[in-house]
Amino acid sequence: MTPRILTAAASAAAEIVAARLEAIAAAAGTPAYVYEAGHIRAAYAQLDAAFGGTPHAIHYAMKANSSLAIVRLVRTLGSAADANSMGEVEVALRCGFAPSEIVFTGVGKRHEELERAVSLGLLAINVESPGELERLAALAADRGAVARVALRVNPDIDARSHPHISTGLKANKFGVPIEMAPALFRDIAARPSLAAVGIHVHIGSQITTLDPLERAAEAIVRLARALGDEGIHIEHLDFGGGVGIAYDGGAAPDPAEYVRRIVGAAGGSGLKLAIEPGRVLIGPAGVLLTRVVDVKQFPGARRFVVLDAGMTELMRPALYGAFHRIDPVRPRPGQPVPADIVGPICESTDTFARDRELLPVEVGDLMVIRDAGAYGAAMGSNYLRRPFPPEVMVDGAAWRITRRRQTLDDMLALEEDSADPKTRKGPER
Ligand code: LLP
Repeated sequence: MTPRILTAAASAAAEIVAARLEAIAAAAGTPAYVYEAGHIRAAYAQLDAAFGGTPHAIHYAMKANSSLAIVRLVRTLGSAADANSMGEVEVALRCGFAPSEIVFTGVGKRHEELERAVSLGLLAINVESPGELERLAALAADRGAVARVALRVNPDIDARSHPHISTGLKANKFGVPIEMAPALFRDIAARPSLAAVGIHVHIGSQITTLDPLERAAEAIVRLARALGDEGIHIEHLDFGGGVGIAYDGGAAPDPAEYVRRIVGAAGGSGLKLAIEPGRVLIGPAGVLLTRVVDVKQFPGARRFVVLDAGMTELMRPALYGAFHRIDPVRPRPGQPVPADIVGPICESTDTFARDRELLPVEVGDLMVIRDAGAYGAAMGSNYLRRPFPPEVMVDGAAWRITRRRQTLDDMLALEEDSADPKTRKGPER
């Protein structure tokens, strides 16, 4: 699916898009994240419809982007939530999700987090280890509560994605080896303070071939059947997230086909089927809007196009060598020339693209870095005291700033500061 704010082919539509991005840049400044609500709605509807009549739940993976405007929007579409920290659980609650709509995952949950999860009565706590199971059982027993547990299994399946975001191999820190699961489920069933409600699997992210996802689904369906044969009956199968998108504008797995494969593997189980999509819902719906601040080229050296956005706003290229398309908002006439498109940060990894064919650009030109809706704003940092950028939601012909740019005072508010807030001067010495 092509984000409409970005790639309108017809020139009249392209003019509207460019004018809107210019208006946004004028009002919000750059760098800024810009999302399109219509795209998120369409992506959600496509996944949802593909389940047909099969009982299912779509748990939006908040880690992809937990800005209030986005989380509230997906909730209005009928989504449930997948939270990876207590912070995300609290944001989900603030956005109106009921505890019974939230699953809580995380490879290292702290005692207070487990405590809060139990007292809230979340839909499922996705347990990652025998030790965690033990701690959770004790904690729930102390409170006379019953914790709803889904066991996260590691099926030892290669997602064939970037190694930094592959999670389904034995070598990875996630979940328990699937062959240990039956014994652990017996343990859960034997403890009055635990209820076995689900099996959870998540083998990685930005997965571009559906086969590993299908095999992981089949593995947990087999496990559920074996448990059923033993009289251990769960409520849901949670297949995690992971469906990749086409960052290069080429082919990517069809999200509807992904759902059909899940339903094919598990639809006959009679259990509720849950998925935890993040990127596929939000990624293509967002761009990072940025301005060229310098163009430099020395004899015999590369040509550098320096943007006002850097790895502080979008870390994916620095962290994973990730590819994002980058285009001028108003293309200038001329032939593309290779350029290194870089940020302003003081390290060479702050590079969005190397040797990228780029149309002529000049200082001041507005650019978009595409497919930045997921794991963009969410992974931003204040390195170099750079403020978090604003976020803007475009909805039809209207748009609004849903997060203002962080100020220096916002940033410093957490710190001991002896300066007088009125004069900004330190004490006399
Ligand atoms: N469920 C669990 C348990 C997860 O760990 C993740 C992602 C998801 C769902 C959502 O996966 P998605 O549908 O978005 O692929 N920062 C990286 C991605 C890290 C993904 C972590 N877990 C990136 O920028 O590519």
